[in-house]
Amino acid sequence: MKKILSGVQPSGKIHLGNYFGAIRQHLEMAKDHEAYLFIADLHALTTIRNPEEMRELTYELAVAYLALGLDPKKTVFFKQSDVSEHAELCWIFDCITKIPFLERAHAWKDAQNNKKKEASVGLFNYPILQAADILLYKPDFVPVGKDQKQHIEMSRDIAQNFNNIFGEVFKLPEEYIVKEVAIVPGTDGEKMSKSYGNTIDIFEDEKVLKKQVMGIVTDSTPLEKPKDPKTCNVFALYKLIATTEETKMLAAKYKKGGFGFGDAKKALLEKILDYFGPARKKYTEIYKKKDYVYNVLEDGATRAREVAAQTLNEAKKKIGY
Ligand code: ADP
Ligand code: TRP
Repeated sequence: MKKILSGVQPSGKIHLGNYFGAIRQHLEMAKDHEAYLFIADLHALTTIRNPEEMRELTYELAVAYLALGLDPKKTVFFKQSDVSEHAELCWIFDCITKIPFLERAHAWKDAQNNKKKEASVGLFNYPILQAADILLYKPDFVPVGKDQKQHIEMSRDIAQNFNNIFGEVFKLPEEYIVKEVAIVPGTDGEKMSKSYGNTIDIFEDEKVLKKQVMGIVTDSTPLEKPKDPKTCNVFALYKLIATTEETKMLAAKYKKGGFGFGDAKKALLEKILDYFGPARKKYTEIYKKKDYVYNVLEDGATRAREVAAQTLNEAKKKIGY
C-alpha cells in the first residue's frame, strides 16, 4: 500500500481553503493509503505566543479532522510536538543545508518584505522542519495546497543531499495537488488565508459564517443586468461545493440577469451549511469529549514515534553516531 503524509498548522480556524485545498484530499486518500496526518504545532510556534491559544487551536484542529471523518484506527493522527524525532532530524538537516538554499523559499522572501516584523530563525528554518516531518515517514505522496509545492520540492532536495553525503536513507516524496482547487479564493478574491483575514470558517457559528459569506467582495453590476460567473468569487466558491448540475444552474442565473450577488451569496451559504451540516453537528459532539480526543492523539503519537525513531536511527548510524 502506498503511503501519504501531511500536516496542517493549528494557527487558526479551519477554512474552505484548508478543506478543499488539503484536508479533503487527506481524508480521501487516507481511505486507501497508509496515512500519517499530524497537527504541525511546532511550526505554529513561529507565530503563536499564547499557551491557551496554542492548546485551544490544536484541540479545535483535532476535533475538526475527527468531525470531518478521520478514522483514528486507520490513520496515524498525532501532534508534531509529541514526536521529538522531528526536531532532532531537523537539526541534522540544518547542518547539511546551505543558507542560500533557504533564502530562496517564497515564504521567507515574503517575510523579508514585511518590514514591520522581524522574522525568527524558526521561520527561516521552517522548510527544514517540514522536510524532517515528511522524510521521517518515507511517504510516497504529500497531499497539500499549491502554496506548499516549493516546500515539498525543498524536502526532496534535502533528502537527496543527505543521501548523497551519507548514503541512502530517505525516500524522495512527491507532492499531490488537485489542479482544480489549487488556490481557493478568499472573501476579497486573494488566496484564502488565516493571515489575510479573508476566510470562510467551516466550524464557525452560523451567524459568523453568514457574515463572512455576505462579506464576499463582488463587482457593482446592478441586480437586473447579466453577470459573468467566471469573474465572481461567490461563484468560484459555490463551484467547489456544488455538483456540476447545480453549478450549471447557477451560471445560467448569473447570465440571465435579475439575479443579484446577494442571492448568489444566499445560495452559497445554504450550500456550505448543507455540505458541512453533518460535520458541524459532529464537531459540537466531539468537542465535548476531551478525553477521547486526547487519547486519539496520544495513541497516534505512540504509533508515529515507532516509525520516526526507526528512520532517525538509520540516519544517525549513517552519520556515525
Ligand atoms: P493558511 O494560509 O490559512 O495559514 P495553512 O498554511 O495552515 O493555511 O494551510 C494548511 C493547508 O491548507 C496547506 O496544505 C495549504 O496548502 C492549504 N491551503 C490553505 N489555504 C489554501 C487556499 N486558499 N487554497 C488551497 N489550499 C489552501
Ligand atoms: N507548511 C504546511 C502549511 O503551512 C504545514 C506542514 C508542516 C506540512 N509540515 C508539513 C504539510 C509536512 C505537509 C507535510 O500548511
